[in-house]
Amino acid sequence: MSVTLKVNGVDHPVDVSPDTPLLWAIRDHVQLTGTKFGCGLAQCGACTVHVDGQPTRSCVTPVSAVEGKAISARHAGRRRSRRVAGAGRRNHCQPGRGSR
Ligand code: FES
Repeated sequence: MSVTLKVNGVDHPVDVSPDTPLLWAIRDHVQLTGTKFGCGLAQCGACTVHVDGQPTRSCVTPVSAVEGKAISARHAGRRRSRRVAGAGRRNHCQPGRGSR
């Protein structure tokens, strides 16, 4: 069955079963891998997206429940880690790094 998901303002027709969790449709079909799988039980929030402005656990939300609604999902971003090769732990004194 084809379902059209409106993600980040763009319509994405996806060919999935109506009971497919929104999380997998977003990751595997829309290719927005910034939405993560954590517990799969609506407990951890790793998969949270916004549906019509409301925080929604996408791991337990079937695509049939959100068709036609505005879904906001994260793009996969670069990690903003302060770690660099050879660097110590965070908050550890490192030469050349000013405190903030
Ligand atoms: S994966 Fe943990 S709440 Fe969805």
